Amino acid sequence: MAKAKTAYVCADCGAEHSKWQGQCIECGVWNTLSEFVVQPAVKSAGAARSSSGYAGAAAGAPKITPLTSVALTAEMRTLTGISELDRVLGGGLVDGSVVLIGGDPGIGKSTLLLQMLGKLGEQLPSVYVTGEESLGQVAARAQRLDLPLGPLHALAETCIERILEQAVASRPRVLVIDSIQTIWTELLTAAPGSVSQVRESAAKLTRFAKETGTSVFLVGHVTKEGGIAGPRVLEHMVDAVLYFEGESGSRFRVLRAFKNRFGAVNELGVFAMSEKGLREVPNPSAIFLSAHSGPTSGSAVMVTREGTRPLLVEVQALVDQSSLGNPRRVALGLEQNRLAMLLAVLHRHGGVAAYDQDVFVNVVGGIRVQETAADLPVLLAVLSSLRDRPLPEKAVAFGEVGLSGEIRPVPNGEERLKEAAHHGFQRAIVPKANAPKKGRVGDMEVVGVERLSQAIDATR
Ligand code: TYD
Ligand code: MG
Repeated sequence: MAKAKTAYVCADCGAEHSKWQGQCIECGVWNTLSEFVVQPAVKSAGAARSSSGYAGAAAGAPKITPLTSVALTAEMRTLTGISELDRVLGGGLVDGSVVLIGGDPGIGKSTLLLQMLGKLGEQLPSVYVTGEESLGQVAARAQRLDLPLGPLHALAETCIERILEQAVASRPRVLVIDSIQTIWTELLTAAPGSVSQVRESAAKLTRFAKETGTSVFLVGHVTKEGGIAGPRVLEHMVDAVLYFEGESGSRFRVLRAFKNRFGAVNELGVFAMSEKGLREVPNPSAIFLSAHSGPTSGSAVMVTREGTRPLLVEVQALVDQSSLGNPRRVALGLEQNRLAMLLAVLHRHGGVAAYDQDVFVNVVGGIRVQETAADLPVLLAVLSSLRDRPLPEKAVAFGEVGLSGEIRPVPNGEERLKEAAHHGFQRAIVPKANAPKKGRVGDMEVVGVERLSQAIDATR
């Protein structure tokens, strides 16, 4: 056997280097290189090629083919029976797909996957590989969740070679690996959870999925920064990356597609954790509002449209005199840089200074809002807290704020307005281009604004 070579792999971008150095040449991040044993190339061309997820090529050399002569086969999908999960997967589980599910510890990843296997039941034979819990714990959980125990099969094993041996023998259609950070391969001496182990094990599982048509779910731990631990390449290798989000205090959980080769990204599935496991929330539009007894300063309600559904979400801001030379800007559920930009726009075009104030902004319910439609409600909440003056009662807002103080329209304005009217809101402050000509939607008055100053006036 040829001698194994050593390489140094960046945990961030997956670039390989021949010697250790402090900074990755590819992505420029510091201290991310770790040692990795490169296996000598396998002789069989088919096996080597299939490592790039390219199965079935062993029979002959690949040829350049016009796409018109490629037989189109629709991917085979199976509904999991959990419709919020199916929605995030893009309409059901695709045969031979590899799905990575990330999330904080205790958020419910294991619970969701076990419930899914229970629902799939006899329809698709499955194996739940547990590297963290004992078989007894898995069985006890399945029983507590009232799942049919008959079709559930589990394996307590962390060595990838032995897992695949068992999987080849029992031919499941769905394989769950809980979690990828506990899995290791005999080929490497690095500790389980290290970059090289995670990468190599995931590559083997991906190959297995593509070659056998088995759907594989990988549970991934997240780092403090919120990314999935292990190399970024993990996200490149798999077909879909789903994140499970939620606030520890809240029972609501949001499953979000961050990448999906078979469906739309940013699609949301909403669940509630109960004593009987995760329950679906098929109509989640108003669960992210907190129940205030009266008008409260620093609170604004927005209509976001993540995925294909409008959601009413409350944004809270607290603005307080800062004792620091460098006041704090903290954004939870929003992008930090966006908040800094919005505060600059507020100063320059709204004439409101916040440079000597600490600013905290939070999206209620632990949900993360990524779209720019949050700009206007965030600014209104900040302003309301700064002036200690509540926004008008039963008011919603959405709109993107530009650097020159203009309020830009956002997609699907009409649908958002309808949702707000449907929930009894009486006033909407929105970009002019999103406002209907007659200035009303149902019983709700719609104020269209073009500049930040107009939006501020509309809250009086
Ligand atoms: P779990 O699925 O173990 O989380 P993860 O695999 O993401 O680490 O979720 C466990 C949490 O969910 C735990 O804090 C207990 C809670 N839980 C319930 O509230 N009800 C239930 O029926 C179950 C199974 C768990
Ligand atoms: Mg778990």
